[in-house]
Amino acid sequence: MRYVRRFSRTERVLHWVNAIGFFLLLATGLILYLPSLAADVGDRPTIKDIHFWGGIGWVAALVLVALLGDRRGLLRTAREIDGFSKQDLNWLRRRRPSEQGRFNAGQKLNASLTAAYLVLFFVSGMLLWAGERDTRFRFASTVILHDGLLYASLALLVGHLYLAVIHPATRHALRGMVTGTVREDWAHAHHPRWDVSD
Ligand code: HEM
Repeated sequence: MRYVRRFSRTERVLHWVNAIGFFLLLATGLILYLPSLAADVGDRPTIKDIHFWGGIGWVAALVLVALLGDRRGLLRTAREIDGFSKQDLNWLRRRRPSEQGRFNAGQKLNASLTAAYLVLFFVSGMLLWAGERDTRFRFASTVILHDGLLYASLALLVGHLYLAVIHPATRHALRGMVTGTVREDWAHAHHPRWDVSD
């Protein structure tokens, strides 16, 4: 069986650092959010510190991976994800023919929303932190935004995990994010416009 390279090492490290950081913040954020969990854990100030510094560490680690890794490759990938074509729109509307390149329209949307959520989580989290120290940074809507992002990102995560781990036609993609390569026949079937020699 022949395999082709789908994700570089930098892309894979970025993905897994993002996933680990997100789950840490999700777990600690839920403890802060749900009174029953907070009561079980008890030590709210420590959880709050882990959450805040975890958030700073998460964003710093992602920036470091991007700066120290294959920046040019990441930029090329970002441009691919940013290029939303008529083919992509057709694919989303399930109109044929709607051949997809290295990323299909769903993957492009997932990556773009994930990046947007990251920025908004960071900005609203920093405002929550600053607002506790200085009333000039205290806005009623900050916590609504931070909590709203929790629900929106959870909905995206459920869809993402279903396609990556459970759905038979798409779960082979997980191999690409773990080892870097996918089967050539799978690449042709799912991403016919992707030039695998690139
Ligand atoms: C990106 C960096 C992030 C920073 C700097 C940050 C910071 C904060 C801060 C300062 C608070 C207020 C804690 C308190 O006073 O109780 C908070 C609450 C919270 N955070 Fe984050 N956060 C970040 C990312 C995330 C992520 C990724 C999630 C979920 C996936 C999340 C979920 C929550 C939840 C659910 C709360 C509780 C809000 C409430 O009490 O209604 N945060 N965060």
